[in-house]
Amino acid sequence: MDSKQYKEIIRPFLSDKRFRHSVYVAEECVALASRYGVDEKKAETVGLLHDIMKELPKEEQLKMLEESGIILTDEERDTPKLWHAKCGYLYMKQVLHIEDEEMLHAVLYHTTARADMTQLDKVLFVADYISMDRDYEGVEKLRDFARESLDRTVLEGLIFSIQSLTAEHRTVHSDSIKAYNWAIKHFDL
Ligand SMILES: [Fe+2]
Ligand SMILES: [Fe+2]
Repeated sequence: MDSKQYKEIIRPFLSDKRFRHSVYVAEECVALASRYGVDEKKAETVGLLHDIMKELPKEEQLKMLEESGIILTDEERDTPKLWHAKCGYLYMKQVLHIEDEEMLHAVLYHTTARADMTQLDKVLFVADYISMDRDYEGVEKLRDFARESLDRTVLEGLIFSIQSLTAEHRTVHSDSIKAYNWAIKHFDL
């Protein structure tokens, strides 16, 4: 399938704003993939698909997870914002019949990150932070990092996210903490 077909697949699920976001993330994915030697086609595809289930009502997301036998941890149950990543993974697998584990996992972990991230995981994680539609304070700093080092940008993204969550007394998923601990131990910064 090409990017035009993937755009047609995601379009009915998303508002104009989220559709644009997905296209911009895909463009950023391609730019990062080309800079850091990652498969550009896979990067573009996960960029387009990563938020496909984001606007599905929360009850339907929960139902989808339950029907697929996915057991949520307490912290995941408390954080509905994270559900769409698991649902996106399921949709890719069950409906689109995508079998490429690397692509499936990039979408599955795009919100939390994880330890032992692949290069494709990192590309999507970073692209989601710095895509053209993002305008939060600090985004330019992350874009600068992304020109220098993919690993450094992953780490800075994790720090940004963990700091924002803790500042608001919100749950930090254990995968994000594991990703942070893994990053500071293994990245050559
Ligand atoms: Fe997302
Ligand atoms: Fe996103």
